[in-house]
Amino acid sequence: MIQSAVSQILSLCLLATAFSDDVWRSRKPEVIERDVCIIGGGSSGTYSAIRLQQMNKTFVLIEKENRLGGHVNTYIDPVTNQTLDYGVVVWENVSIVRDYFTHLDVPLSDVTLGEAPVSLYADFARVSKVPPDALAPGNLTMGFASYLAQLARYPYLTNGFNLPDPVPEDLLLPWGDFIRKYDLGAIAFAVYSYNQGMGNVLAQPTLYVLKYFTASTAIGASTGGFVTTAHHNNQALYDRALGRLGSSALIDTHIIKIKRDRKGVEVWTSGPSGSKLIRARKLLITIPPKLANLKFLDTDPVERAVFGQFNSSYYWNSIIKGSEISDNTSITNVDVAAPYGIPALPECHAIGYTGVPGLHTVYYSSPYPMSDEAVKSDIIAKHSELVELFGYGPATTPPEFVGFQGHNPYELTVSADAIRSGFYGKSESLQGRRRTWWTGAAWQTQDSSAIWNFTETIVLPQLCQ
Ligand SMILES: Cc1cc2nc3c(=O)[nH]c(=O)nc-3n(C[C@H](O)[C@H](O)[C@H](O)COP(=O)(O)OP(=O)(O)OC[C@H]3O[C@@H](n4cnc5c(N)ncnc54)[C@H](O)[C@@H]3O)c2cc1C
Ligand SMILES: *[C@@H]1O[C@H](CO)[C@@H](O)[C@H](O)[C@H]1NC(C)=O
Ligand SMILES: *[C@@H]1O[C@H](CO)[C@@H](O)[C@H](O)[C@H]1NC(C)=O
Ligand SMILES: *[C@@H]1O[C@H](CO)[C@@H](O)[C@H](O)[C@H]1NC(C)=O
Ligand SMILES: *[C@@H]1O[C@H](CO)[C@@H](O)[C@H](O)[C@H]1NC(C)=O
Ligand SMILES: *[C@@H]1O[C@H](CO)[C@@H](O)[C@H](O)[C@H]1NC(C)=O
Ligand SMILES: *[C@@H]1O[C@H](CO)[C@@H](O)[C@H](O)[C@H]1NC(C)=O
Ligand SMILES: *[C@@H]1O[C@H](CO)[C@@H](O)[C@H](O)[C@H]1NC(C)=O
Repeated sequence: MIQSAVSQILSLCLLATAFSDDVWRSRKPEVIERDVCIIGGGSSGTYSAIRLQQMNKTFVLIEKENRLGGHVNTYIDPVTNQTLDYGVVVWENVSIVRDYFTHLDVPLSDVTLGEAPVSLYADFARVSKVPPDALAPGNLTMGFASYLAQLARYPYLTNGFNLPDPVPEDLLLPWGDFIRKYDLGAIAFAVYSYNQGMGNVLAQPTLYVLKYFTASTAIGASTGGFVTTAHHNNQALYDRALGRLGSSALIDTHIIKIKRDRKGVEVWTSGPSGSKLIRARKLLITIPPKLANLKFLDTDPVERAVFGQFNSSYYWNSIIKGSEISDNTSITNVDVAAPYGIPALPECHAIGYTGVPGLHTVYYSSPYPMSDEAVKSDIIAKHSELVELFGYGPATTPPEFVGFQGHNPYELTVSADAIRSGFYGKSESLQGRRRTWWTGAAWQTQDSSAIWNFTETIVLPQLCQ
């Protein structure tokens, strides 16, 4: 009995110690003082951090995952050590990209967007084969030329959303109507395939399509003017950046709350090296600014009125292993009964060719939220139907997901009415307000090269003033 009393007292003491330690840690976090606190270590946040480092500013970068890179996903095949990028793959061959990679000492090479040796087509929803010539959209070269002529009418789309008032009505047309008006049917399927993750692309305001499918993309898509990492390991760029940033990058770190006032910004975090209170002069937020993502922030009514209008689409990427479909084969989803062959979503885009034995990619889009489990089971179901359809034999064991990521929320959009009523003037006017600057895809488009250029030429000069 005495023994048990003693052990009880002992465990109580231990409990108390643990408790007070916790209290101490939360009440007395390590205080860090910096010029800038950057939220999010994906494409735009990592670029900003490296540039601030080059400019000798003090900063801290906070990333919730245990790596930098955001939408970059590099799979390392355990058998061959071959690396395979199935998230971000390409960058534009422009000086801002080359300078960044040179600074981080990561070699680039040209990309030849590798076609599968065998390209098959199917209607995934109806489980029927589609002959290759069913997707004969017309003259692509002429289509891209007409598209570039349209794009040239809106030079201000290159950087940010600095739109004229009134916003040209053509930019507010649903993309499907714009295609019809300017006879762009030849490139409709190509644009849908490149602008993956935009939800029902034909229904989106044309503005978002023109932002995403940039002139360099249109030229690149027709000439192959993209670059990628020489070792097909895009994660290496971010691992190198993490090394360079040292203790100025906090990964695996959770933001508890952010308070801003006239004196500065306070960011409370918890992570592997304990709790921290970051006092910064300025805040740079790079995560998708939907209100649900900004719960830690002391938003005010002006910010809430802007960010509350964002809608979004949803996008997943995956690698499956052990498919019965031949390694050299891709199967693309085409709905011949639908305008331009573009399938209704949610759906798989394709079972893709990788060049790595035993592996295929599957990309998946939805206009509305879905659970990862629902996406996986739809992929498995469609896969086994295709295996039987193309006579690879009955699908036996389903393939294994060796890579699977949701990139959500993905494309942030507002309605044509909101754009017409000056949404982007209001969002742009938040730059620098309440000591806070903003960058990332929602402020530019889903294109790392364009995001870096926007960050470099618009955001950092103001932030560093
Ligand atoms: C499958 C796929 C393929 C793509 N391919 C290409 C391509 O080939 N070329 C190209 O240019 N673009 C490509 N893109 C688009 C490109 O990746 C994006 O435009 C770009 O990554 C957006 O950068 P960002 O900084 O806005 O967001 P992200 O890169 O997503 O970075 C946001 C970061 O913030 C972190 N974060 C989120 N919430 C918090 C929080 N509360 N606290 C701390 N951190 C947080 C996230 O973990 C993430 O690391 C692709 C996208 C996907 C999904
Ligand atoms: C940053 O500091 C380094 C080392 O002191 C110096 O060589 C460099 O010129 C500085 N760069 C800028 C932009 O001030
Ligand atoms: C793969 O890389 C690991 C770690 O670098 C190494 O030990 C292994 O020998 C490599 N395997 C092959 C097949 O190259
Ligand atoms: C990119 O463009 C530059 C300049 O035009 C060219 O020299 C280079 O070969 C291209 N490709 C790569 C991988 O840099
Ligand atoms: C497409 O149009 C271009 C430019 O008008 C022309 O040179 C080319 O021959 C056409 N291609 C086809 C396949 O018709
Ligand atoms: C593709 O792979 C299949 C199965 O391995 C093979 O029979 C076929 O010849 C290959 N086709 C090409 C074009 O490489
Ligand atoms: C967001 O988009 C979805 C899919 O297009 C649509 O159903 C929904 O009504 C939209 N929501 C808002 C608030 O616009
Ligand atoms: C980068 O931004 C500048 C300034 O807005 C613009 O003139 C230029 O065309 C952009 N470059 C690219 C490659 O987008």
